[in-house]
Amino acid sequence: MKHLASVGVAEMDEEHDEVANAINNLISTRSPRALQEVLEAVHGHFKHEETLLSQHLYQSCSEDGALPGFDATLSQKRSHFQDHRRILDALEAAAASVDSDGEIPCNVIMSIKDDFENHTARYDSSYAHSLPDAMKNAESALGKRKAGSEL
Ligand SMILES: [Fe+2]
Ligand SMILES: [Fe+2]
Repeated sequence: MKHLASVGVAEMDEEHDEVANAINNLISTRSPRALQEVLEAVHGHFKHEETLLSQHLYQSCSEDGALPGFDATLSQKRSHFQDHRRILDALEAAAASVDSDGEIPCNVIMSIKDDFENHTARYDSSYAHSLPDAMKNAESALGKRKAGSEL
């Protein structure tokens, strides 16, 4: 699996690399243990990414239909997080359907690899500018507040 494009946030890039390394290990070993490691790396990464996105980018007020009309931010959040769920479901199904001493079928491994590459290209790349900017703004606002409270 090739190196994934940067999304502009170091901790996300590092986790994408970790997942890519785990998938490469799965490609070379085809072992249930390697699949488990992919599952854990992806699970941890999605959780972290969803926390950052919810905190800094997807802060819509209209969750649960509180506001009428179309909300692009909410729609982005839903489709992004739904794709996380779809990938996790596929990984969990693959892990559940293999014996602990069995080999993961090549087509299953290739679909895991394609899913992750396509997800980062389609969804994660869309926050490559906005998330780092929002995180920088939050940091500088926090710095100003701290400086203010020290006066
Ligand atoms: Fe994502
Ligand atoms: Fe991601």
